[in-house]
Amino acid sequence: MNTTKPTLPTPDDAALWYEDRLYLADQRVLPERAEFLSYQQAPEVAEAIRAMVVRGAPAIGVTAAYGVVLAGRAAHATAGVGWKTAIEADLERLAASRPTAVNLFWAIRRMRALIERLDTTDPTPALLREALAIHEEDRAANHRMGDLGAELIEGPTDIVTHCNAGAIATGGYGTALGVVRSAFAAGKIRRVYADETRPWMQGARLTAWELMHDGIPVTLQADGAAASLMAGGSVGWVIVGSDRIAANGDVANKIGTYGLAVLARYHGIKVMVAAPTSTVDMEVASGAEIPIEERDSDELLSCGGRRLAPAGCVARNPVFDVTPAALVDAIVTERGVVLNPTTEKMRALMDSSMGE
Ligand code: MRU
Repeated sequence: MNTTKPTLPTPDDAALWYEDRLYLADQRVLPERAEFLSYQQAPEVAEAIRAMVVRGAPAIGVTAAYGVVLAGRAAHATAGVGWKTAIEADLERLAASRPTAVNLFWAIRRMRALIERLDTTDPTPALLREALAIHEEDRAANHRMGDLGAELIEGPTDIVTHCNAGAIATGGYGTALGVVRSAFAAGKIRRVYADETRPWMQGARLTAWELMHDGIPVTLQADGAAASLMAGGSVGWVIVGSDRIAANGDVANKIGTYGLAVLARYHGIKVMVAAPTSTVDMEVASGAEIPIEERDSDELLSCGGRRLAPAGCVARNPVFDVTPAALVDAIVTERGVVLNPTTEKMRALMDSSMGE
């Protein structure tokens, strides 16, 4: 079902919600159109994640959690007391949708832990409560990260961000853009430079739109324009989100983040990564072990339906890269800030509880 809502989502009104079925704002057509798609079956949710209807690591995790609710409902309707066996295929489909954002696997693991505790009666209400909790916790984590990240910025300064780590990439408010929102409210940000972020243009389409919606000064730039901007001396911080942070603090994020971090170090600019602890994967020792998604080369070879490169041209399309921990000045999570990350500091963070 396609529905068109009269208003676009706001920073605190995430672009996904559950009301008997899952609704997703179609991020492929934003900001040109606000179209909401609805889903009643988990395999369709898995396909929506793969096809980028919904994107951004925390939003993918929240979506997968709601996908498990739909899977549980269908499994109980078809298999009754045998629903725990029947749900497995859908859990696997959801987990196979995209490989890099660990929030997806984190959310499915958390839903699985609940499934193990449930009996053979209809699991839908309990699964929904857990999915709603995951969603609400993510929104709260973003507000907390906003406060913590903003404290690190002296300002007033200019910021560079890459991709979209905003409200629509999360349960609400945003990770990197949550920090931007909080820091702007505190008078610490003059202007945000948003990299357009080839080939999906998350910066041009989504970050520029979110910041303009909030009245935060934003200038779009080509991905290759960051170096000359940095040389001008107005930028104090690069602030980005992450899809997976390894145990040693290496950060996987949208392709191009690594290059930005190298540039930032050369120009004496600091790099902040804002991500909830659901993005931290202590099971991978370093970024070298993070699976990097490679998408269809057609995404690069064409743009807006128009072929760019000559017929037969070969293209590589890795959609994430790994920034070594040594280039990261601060990892901001809802549990606290890790400066100059190392394995020991990341372990201490993950062993701590909220607020410590
Ligand atoms: O391919 P995408 O659009 O899902 O990639 C998203 C990013 O790389 C974001 O920076 C990351 O998920 C953090 S979102 C809060």
